[in-house]
Amino acid sequence: MSQTGNVAALDRILTLEIVRVTERAAVSAARMRGRGDEKQADQAAVDAMRRELNALPIDGRVVIGEGERDEAPMLYIGEEVGTRNGPKVDIALDPLECTTVCAKNLPNSLAVIAMAEAGSLLNAPDVYMDKIAIGPGYEPGLVELDVAPEENIRRLAEAKGVAMSEITACVLDRPRHAHIIEAVRATGAAIRLIGDGDVAGVIHTTDPDQTGIDIYMGTGGAPEGVLASAALRCIGGQMQGRLIIKTDEQRERALKMGIEDPNKIYTHNEMASGDVLFAATGVTDGNLLSGVRFGRSDIQTESVVMRSSTGTVRWIKARHNKLEKFHLD
Ligand code: FBP
Repeated sequence: MSQTGNVAALDRILTLEIVRVTERAAVSAARMRGRGDEKQADQAAVDAMRRELNALPIDGRVVIGEGERDEAPMLYIGEEVGTRNGPKVDIALDPLECTTVCAKNLPNSLAVIAMAEAGSLLNAPDVYMDKIAIGPGYEPGLVELDVAPEENIRRLAEAKGVAMSEITACVLDRPRHAHIIEAVRATGAAIRLIGDGDVAGVIHTTDPDQTGIDIYMGTGGAPEGVLASAALRCIGGQMQGRLIIKTDEQRERALKMGIEDPNKIYTHNEMASGDVLFAATGVTDGNLLSGVRFGRSDIQTESVVMRSSTGTVRWIKARHNKLEKFHLD
């Protein structure tokens, strides 16, 4: 997005408009909290996010998110959104990050979106991704995806000026991560196991004094990797990611999206380049954001919105009048 004239003004408006998109998705998903039906919760978030996106003055294209046209009825990769009267933008989204968590009404489910100049966000299939991330203030490439976990912990502890036993790594609690967990613990470092939600897991590395998390390691969704990269572009920190492309069919799909080397390691700057906006709204209560509250006369949401070009991070607590359009969701 250009920084000149009317376009810059429009961009500034978009920084706030983008929050409406996650707010509406979060409110719709929150109505399905604890109902035990993940599909319904996800669908509610997708419907609301799509409706709001289509009201935005953008010429947008979803480049990574819910799946491709045959798998995802709406907000599929390649779907065009917005009024078309506005800047051309790429969109990465997860209308309901942590669907199972929302269906069980457990902590940390979010509605998340990132937007950037067209051609700036990684266009990839909805596959898994290997990830490693740390917060700001370290030299680029201090930790690396293809280095053993023990060595990454050693490098990070040395750069932070603390003992390895004072480092905490956040890892998704999955059997596939047993080797990482074992290797990290062998260094004396601690593990913070999370049940779900690696967008928040990565973001937590950016403020270790508050979150107690220094490094994120492990395999999660590729859309979540691109979304987390967008957040790091705005608030600092570094991340590397590699798509996990296992089958010929996935390779072909990736190739169609312009990925010639399926083993490429992407930095966060490559996954989300240019002028990037990131927004998230809490669906259920979490460490990052409080969840939606349904009051007698209003609905309360908590969101964060960030922009890479200025580095501004806004925390927005909103009260929405129940009598206005929110009651229609
Ligand atoms: P969903 O929104 O698809 O439920 O993702 C939740 C999540 O925990 C992500 O944060 C993470 O990237 C991914 O699942 C990990 O995948 P899996 O649960 O298959 O291990």
